[in-house]
Formats: sequence, structure tokens, C-alpha cells
Amino acid sequence: MREEWSSSTGFILASIGSAVGIGNIWRFPYIVGENGGGAFLIPYLIAVFLFGMPLIMLEFALGRHFQTSVVPTFSTIGKRFRLAGFFMVLGMGMILSYYLVITGWVLAYTLFFISGISVPFAAFTASYYPLLFFLISGGITFSVVMAGVKQGIERLAKVLIPLLFGMLLLLLVYSISLPGALQGMRFYLTPDFERLADPLVWTAAFGQAFFSLSVGFGILLTYGSYMREERIAQSAAIITISDLLVAILAGFMISPMVFSFGLTPASGVQLAFVALPPIFLVIRFGIFLGAVFFLLLFFAALTSAVSMLEVPVATLIDQYGFERKKAAALASFLIILVGLPSALSYTALKLQLFGTPLLDLKDFAFGTIGLIVAGLILSITAGWFLDHQIVFQEIGGSRRMQKLFIGIIKFFIPVILLINLVVRLITLS
Ligand code: ALA
Repeated sequence: MREEWSSSTGFILASIGSAVGIGNIWRFPYIVGENGGGAFLIPYLIAVFLFGMPLIMLEFALGRHFQTSVVPTFSTIGKRFRLAGFFMVLGMGMILSYYLVITGWVLAYTLFFISGISVPFAAFTASYYPLLFFLISGGITFSVVMAGVKQGIERLAKVLIPLLFGMLLLLLVYSISLPGALQGMRFYLTPDFERLADPLVWTAAFGQAFFSLSVGFGILLTYGSYMREERIAQSAAIITISDLLVAILAGFMISPMVFSFGLTPASGVQLAFVALPPIFLVIRFGIFLGAVFFLLLFFAALTSAVSMLEVPVATLIDQYGFERKKAAALASFLIILVGLPSALSYTALKLQLFGTPLLDLKDFAFGTIGLIVAGLILSITAGWFLDHQIVFQEIGGSRRMQKLFIGIIKFFIPVILLINLVVRLITLS
């Protein structure tokens, strides 16, 4: 019999765990800083509620209706979509392969802070520790998924997600009590509306929303296949709002800290590892707060990594009849293998292509372009080639709402994603 969540709370917490990740706590604050401060919230809210949330609902509906994972779902909709299903699983594996590298960095810094050691990021990446922690993160993710939906994924989320919210609030209270906190927040949220004329700000909003909500590559479709009675629209709303809340609160937590030390939240991708650790080293209770910060980030990363691994694992189980343990072992092995170059790209080996570390290239190819393509595939396949009654039955609601929903999936999302894709590719050259 197919595995299922033991309760609605477990299902919601696991889905929040998937959505809330490194993307919210570390990526969102600097993306806001780089893209117009408070003004960025306009495209971001549109992306989250008009695109992300309908796609979450769609993934849940497909998963629950077909009661299977990505590849068999797409094959059932039409044999010709089978390849699209494989693309999603592959894309997910590629994203996880570098996500685990960053998870490894986070784990290392958690342990450094817990043991009171200060290690500059440059020295850390010049060593082979990133490789070691990448392997450890992969091993932990594997052991959770191997334990199953109820015993592994759901149990982990039930413990870690409440802790995560508690730790976030603790850091937030500390941060807003800092002198200069108000200025930091003002900097974070002061809108620069002129930036909204830049199409790249909009593509950044869509990219961030998709990545943050974990939509596109079939994670939520797979999670949806383990659900029973839950109300889809309500669950999607809770997940979307929680994800948004964590991202915005993370910004409120980080900006006062970096601002009171004369830095800006837009100091780039290494914000969490380069800018914040020295701050933690000098502030009161800094070692403790640093440990809490990285542990929070690690919990967020782990619950997301677990959801990503579940996509290929469920496919191996449903499509090829694997046993869960073997499926988890094989998928983890392949993902770690593929992830090795990205794990080494910041070490002394400096694996790069066109002067860019492999990890960043993969993030661009799969985490940005791939996600847009996956969103396109999902919305076009379901909008144009699936009997809409299937979706209506699953999501319920009034006739009017259902029509609006399918209109968004069929026309609005594909058109906007196509524009996004073109803008991304043009600005690349
Ligand atoms: N949704 C996950 C994150 O935000 C992947 O990091």
C-alpha cells in the first residue's frame, strides 16, 4: 500500500519544511537588497500568490489524483510527456546535488560556532572540509528519506519546524533590540520604485518565489501523492504564507545586524558565511547566537533537501518497483557523485567553467533556468492536455474560482514564464 502522512499537521509541516530553506533565510534578504528594497515586495507578492500558490495547488491535485510520483504521473497524462517527467526528476537531482554542498557549509559553521572555533570562509573553502561536510549532509538526508514518509520525513518536520520558528523569533527579538536596528530595517524596506522598470527585478522575483516555494520540479506533487483528506487550497495558502513570513522575518533579523556593522544586506551570495560570522564573534552572546543562526539555517536546509531527495526516490519506487531503502541509497549515491564537482568548486581545486564556480553555474542552469522550464512544462501539460475535471474535483471551490484557476494555469503562467525565460536568456548574452 502507498505510504501516507499520519496527519494533516504532519503533511503541512513537511511541506513547510520543503518550502522554507536556505532560499528564505539566506537568499531572500540579499535579493531584496539588490532589487529595490521594499519595492521588490510588489513583484514578489505577485509571483508568490498568482504563480507560486496556484502551482502548489496544481502539484497537490496531480499527486493526490494519480497517487504516484512525477514520471508515472506525466506518463499517465500522455506517453509523450514521459520525458518531461524525467526532466523534472533529473533537474531536482541536479539542484539537490549543489544544495547539499551549501547545506554542508551550514552544518560546518553550526559545529564551528557550537565548539567556539572561528574559521574564516576563505580558509574553510580552501580546505577539503566542504567535501567532508557535503558527504555528511548527503548521508543525513539519505537516512531520513530511507526511514520513510511517516517515520522519516514527517517526524523530522514535526520536530524541526516548530524549533525553526522558535529560533527565528529569538534571533529576531535580539536583532531588533540592537542600536541602529531601525535604520537597518529602513534600509531593508525603503522602496526604490524605479527599479520596478527593470525586467530583471521581475525575473529575480519569479526565480526567488519558485525556488523558495519548492514548486516546479515535482516535490509537492510527490508529497501530494501521500495526502488523503486535506483541503488543497487551504493547505497551499498556509504553506505559501508561512514561507513568505519566514523570508520577511529573516530579512528583519539580518538587516539590523549587518547594518549596525556598516555592511549592507546586498553584500552578495556569501552574506551568511562572510558577513555574519565576524559580527557574531564580537557581539554579546555572539557565539550562542551564531550557533542558533546556523542551526536554524541547517534545519531549514535539511527539511528542504529531504523533500528534494524524495522526488527521485519515489520515482524509483513507483516506476521501477524499488524497495525504499535501495531507492534512497541509489538516488543518494548518484546525487553525491554528480555533486562532487560542485563540492570541489570552492575548494583549492577551484573547479570552474568560464571563470564561474561549477556550483554557481549549476544554480543558474537548474535552479534558475531549469525551474522556469519545469514550471512551463507543468502548467502547459496540466492546462492544455489534462481533463480539467480532475483538477476541479481535487481542489473543490466554486465554479467561478475553478475557471479562474484554470485560466491562470493555462494562459497566465505559461506566458509570463516564457517572457521570464526570454529575458533571462537575452541578458545572458
Ligand atoms: N525551497 C527551498 C529553499 O528555499 C529549496 O531553499
